[in-house]
Amino acid sequence: MCGIIGCVQRGGDCWPRVYDGLKRLEYRGYDSVGVAVLDQNAIGIRKKKGGADALADAYLKGGAGIGHTRWATHGAPSDENAHPHAAGKFALVHNGIVENFAALKEELVAAGEVFLSETDSEVIVKLISRAYTGDFLRAVRDGCARLEGSYAIAVLCEDFPDTVVCAKCKSPLVAGTGADGVYVCSDIPALSGVCGSICPASDGELICLVGQRVLFYDFNLNAVDKTFTPSDGGSAVRERGAFTSYMEEEIADIPRALSDTYAALKGMDFTACARKLAAAERIFAVACGTAFHSTLSFRFVAEKCLGVPVICERASEFRYKTRLIQKDDVLVAVSQSGETADTAEAVKRAKAAGAYVVSVTNVRHSTIAALSDTNVPMRANAEIAVAATKSYNCQLMCLFTLAAEACCKKTGVYPSFYYDLPALSFAAREAFSCFPEVDALASRLKEKSAMYFLGRDADFVTAVEGALKVKEIAYVFSEGYPAGELKHGTLALVEKGFPVIAIVTQKSLAKKTENAVAEVIARGGYVALFSPFESVLKESAAQFCCKIPAVREELAGAVSVIPLQYFALRMCQLRGHDPDKPRNLAKSVTVE
Ligand code: G6P
Repeated sequence: MCGIIGCVQRGGDCWPRVYDGLKRLEYRGYDSVGVAVLDQNAIGIRKKKGGADALADAYLKGGAGIGHTRWATHGAPSDENAHPHAAGKFALVHNGIVENFAALKEELVAAGEVFLSETDSEVIVKLISRAYTGDFLRAVRDGCARLEGSYAIAVLCEDFPDTVVCAKCKSPLVAGTGADGVYVCSDIPALSGVCGSICPASDGELICLVGQRVLFYDFNLNAVDKTFTPSDGGSAVRERGAFTSYMEEEIADIPRALSDTYAALKGMDFTACARKLAAAERIFAVACGTAFHSTLSFRFVAEKCLGVPVICERASEFRYKTRLIQKDDVLVAVSQSGETADTAEAVKRAKAAGAYVVSVTNVRHSTIAALSDTNVPMRANAEIAVAATKSYNCQLMCLFTLAAEACCKKTGVYPSFYYDLPALSFAAREAFSCFPEVDALASRLKEKSAMYFLGRDADFVTAVEGALKVKEIAYVFSEGYPAGELKHGTLALVEKGFPVIAIVTQKSLAKKTENAVAEVIARGGYVALFSPFESVLKESAAQFCCKIPAVREELAGAVSVIPLQYFALRMCQLRGHDPDKPRNLAKSVTVE
């Protein structure tokens, strides 16, 4: 969703830092961009449709500034709808959705206000301006008091040099202090390398950057004592170097990410959460997007080694099922960013029901990590491309480990797959040797407008994840399907040349998936088969066969997905799209 940044820069020139922040935040939204800077007692604003590059030649002088990268919710991407929005002496940037904005706008228009944009955000700055009687902090609080929905805002006021006032409700906001200034931002990773220490705000809190101080207040405007923690330098935003895209760099980083995650997990104390999982009679697992697919893999492994049902729900749907979750249940919440609004809401509802919450996140100190009883950290490091890749592999590493730890607590022994976890990193590197063949496959299929991905049991999860990647970045309709379901409808679409990608990592299921392959080929379809088994590949009727690294079957999904991630990348590039910034999507979805 939208990214916001605010800063008061030591030395009085905030533009370079705000602009750099926008570049770091671009993965949150990239349809328009804007900056406001306060110089003496005048606010200057530059805003434009497009990504951060649209402001590459702009500059505004002044020490206090706010910036915004937009992911449109209300109003199309345009110069007018770009933030900051201004009213009276104020300029504001906003991430979130004002759910009662139509009623507020009607009221403000009736009072004579003129709106320049179609955004919900413009009502906030008008409310603040109208509430202002000389007290900046109070005006922001009073404006926010009228809002329903979610917001993280940063505001400038012409009467207060070197000051940025911010407020938070349900959208992420973190403050940070660095050698050169004080900051607020929607994302911890965007402050890494800039801030030595950080402190996330809680819902209902306001933050005031004044000079080089960071002050927190509650909604009654009482000062709040907060603890700053050292920021995680390991997650600093990287350069993509010689790689064609961040996505390519992130796929290449999978072996490192897996081995760092494994090392971090080795040092972690699982006692409390393993005990809870071992005692649970059922486990719920929630997430969105790619992270949801990780929960499906967790289900296969955890159900086998714990012998209890694992109920996977998309976080956005979980709220309609919360009556099912109870005190003795465990909820496993998975999120790369740790900020996805639906997942955070699911966690809150599970906690309210008294359930124990274990989260798996890539960002320490994130909202979801803070809400959980136990946080299992991945070490994927910053993932910038919108489509998740290395975080998925790391999520599987964390979830397999979690299942193994719980199993050990329950039975007294680790399941045998536990001892193969360190080998995943090597197998991931080996998977790169498939890339030339995958490249050839992408060249062959690049003009296709639809495709299926098929797999059985755990391979079905890899199929749905592969299909999601292709859909997200190559804009090709693709669907992951259980191979056995093919004849119950899906087969109707298969005609001459229709592409089907099949995955077989469990030998016992190879014959059954081969039946589906044969059914597709009998209708003229084109099948590409990925499997670690020579014999399976040799005996298959598939027109394209690719040997992937052999990994024991419980863990195979963490590696068999890699050629499919790369396939999606190459399909995207060959079709002329930017893999890092797919249209209409955002990396961190912080509105429900
Ligand atoms: C967005 C991203 C996906 C991601 C999903 C969940 O839709 O584009 O790549 O899988 O959010 O994000 P999370 O941070 O919770 O894993």
